[in-house]
Amino acid sequence: MAEKRNIFLVGPMGAGKSTIGRQLARQLHLEFFDSDTEIERRTGADIAWVFELEGEEGFRLREEKVIEELTENTGIVLATGGGSILSKESRNRLSARGVVVYLQTTIEKQLARTQRDKRRPLIAEADNPREVLENLAELRNPLYEEIADIVVRTDEQSTKLVIDQIIEKV
Ligand code: S3P
Repeated sequence: MAEKRNIFLVGPMGAGKSTIGRQLARQLHLEFFDSDTEIERRTGADIAWVFELEGEEGFRLREEKVIEELTENTGIVLATGGGSILSKESRNRLSARGVVVYLQTTIEKQLARTQRDKRRPLIAEADNPREVLENLAELRNPLYEEIADIVVRTDEQSTKLVIDQIIEKV
């Protein structure tokens, strides 16, 4: 990787962005950020609360602002929220300011990793989480693909191998 560029992880809920991002940052001696954690830190409320008080729209505004600010950094790994790429502004920023890594997984793995999760109100409260994830994937996968510099599957290999693959490609 030339100089201290940034690495931005995008992809759906449960793809492993935070777990992989934290370890990747440690290995590359970069600083790690997570957009959801940053929103929680700034608001003093968990993501479910932000959704409840401000709606998804309010949450998205906060997310856009956090991405705008964090992408000003150099030398970070950023795990983005699964819906952050809905904002054209954020897509442009992510593409312009670092290497975008799209972490792909299957709906089965997403379901296994995201059940009963307070950080994911979109599915935590859904009657049919599978259907919600499928609908989100249909809308969002083209957007992840649009900005991805690198695509890595996380459902078929260990975290270590995923990280090795990212390091090899960035
Ligand atoms: C969301 C994904 C979550 C979190 C929020 C909304 C989404 O982040 O930002 O619950 O719209 O896909 P993760 O992708 O880290 O689960």
